[in-house]
Amino acid sequence: MNPQRPKLFDFHGVSMTHFFTDNWDKVQNFKAKPDDIVVATYPKAGTTWVSYILDLLYFQQMCEREKSISIVDRVPFLELVYPPMHTGTDNADTLPTSPRIIKTHLPVQFLPKSFLEQNCKIVYVARNAKDNVVSYFHFDCMERIQPEPGDWNSFLQRFKDGQMVFGSWYDHVCGWWEKKQTYSKIHYMFYEDLVEDTERELKNLCSFLGLSTPEEQRKKIVRCVQFDVMKANPMTNLTDDPSLDLSVSQFLRKGKVGDWKNHFTVAQNEQFDEVYKLKMKNTSLHFRTEI
Ligand code: A3P
Repeated sequence: MNPQRPKLFDFHGVSMTHFFTDNWDKVQNFKAKPDDIVVATYPKAGTTWVSYILDLLYFQQMCEREKSISIVDRVPFLELVYPPMHTGTDNADTLPTSPRIIKTHLPVQFLPKSFLEQNCKIVYVARNAKDNVVSYFHFDCMERIQPEPGDWNSFLQRFKDGQMVFGSWYDHVCGWWEKKQTYSKIHYMFYEDLVEDTERELKNLCSFLGLSTPEEQRKKIVRCVQFDVMKANPMTNLTDDPSLDLSVSQFLRKGKVGDWKNHFTVAQNEQFDEVYKLKMKNTSLHFRTEI
């Protein structure tokens, strides 16, 4: 059965859909454990990639899990409510393994307080705005529980206006960047760095997590998380996700830095740069749109 596409609405100043607000009290009162690891991202920044990297770092030796449990079930999506599936909070509460790796797209001001009170480690992944919006557009075309995307030009305008599920990209990446200045347990990663040198980024991630994963194991993980390998792996390519229309696109679509050049017109690019300069004028955060 195809679900009806939801409408966006303003939720405490952030555009959201009911799929991510219906369980709000339970999300806000979620009880974190000190060893929980949070993967926080704006949608389409490489969440699944980094979730899988983390999962392999902790659980690679559990072969059955690798072969039979999809990454979306191993790493629960905290705020998701999509009946008849269990809620994200229930899935997190009943995870049999530890540490729990928990995914969220919430902007920083919505993060349940107990993650900070428990001093949990948080891995934030950010992706440059141009590739992020392109990826988001293709995703919204295929994901039936996202609002109707409309055409590319109107989607791009909505992105600039922050009228996207989980709100403004600019606020999201800057909000988490600011939080990192006061909460030391945030590891802020960039999608572009991961594409450029996955092995280096994996090593840095291990240092942040306090893991002494041997080099040989790290190299094995790097091989497993390559785009083509993840795309061929039924546990990571999301081909069993009932809400995705795979006739429109693949979840692992391109996996590139700079794909925006195939979508933006010259005029769209100029207008985007103008808005970008304004919105990002007060941050030290810097993104690469090509590598
Ligand atoms: P594209 O649509 O540009 O291909 P998320 O998991 O946050 O929804 O992000 C999805 C994006 O990350 C998609 O981008 C997807 O292809 C990309 N991605 C996932 N795994 C990847 C990998 N191993 N290497 C490069 N990109 C990857």
